[in-house]
Amino acid sequence: MSWQAVDRTRVPEEQLGPGLSEAVKEKIRAFFSRYPTKQAAVLPALHIAQDALGYVSLRAMKELAELLEIPPSKVMDVVTFYTHFWTHPKGRKTLLLCRSISCELLGAGKLKDAIRQRLGIGEHETTPDGEYSFMTEECLAACDHAPCLMVNEKMHKCVRPEDLERILADADNDRLDIPRSDLFDAP
Ligand code: FES
Repeated sequence: MSWQAVDRTRVPEEQLGPGLSEAVKEKIRAFFSRYPTKQAAVLPALHIAQDALGYVSLRAMKELAELLEIPPSKVMDVVTFYTHFWTHPKGRKTLLLCRSISCELLGAGKLKDAIRQRLGIGEHETTPDGEYSFMTEECLAACDHAPCLMVNEKMHKCVRPEDLERILADADNDRLDIPRSDLFDAP
């Protein structure tokens, strides 16, 4: 396999995706005084942007770069380093499977196979109806209840492949009590 370079400086304007509202920019600016540099606020800024748009569009990256006074490439570096950030739209519900050791030892692999089979998508993909996206992340901090699967903000513990249908039907999956950006120590 060879690497393919993508020149994102030539993306047509209409393909840059949605931008940040003034309210979102203001929420980001409110973090600046808590950090030694504007650049240091990049993580809360990205969480705020993703909470607002559902993902971090190219236009949002450009606008964040202007706000933080750094090159757009630095924003993209951070976005593409963390699996949590999406560069394309997510489904309404995101299945987040733990891929760390306790969950792996207790059956996360079989659960992953069941999810892929049931939804017909791989990691960082979204079902055609826009309902579900799927991703894996490192430890979800509930290792004593492995394997763990989050659907949006709801944690499901000791999950077996046969639990999947019940979990997908759980009405609580839609609940979002605390957007990720609110977990930062806001001013
Ligand atoms: S290893 Fe899965 S929650 Fe910690």
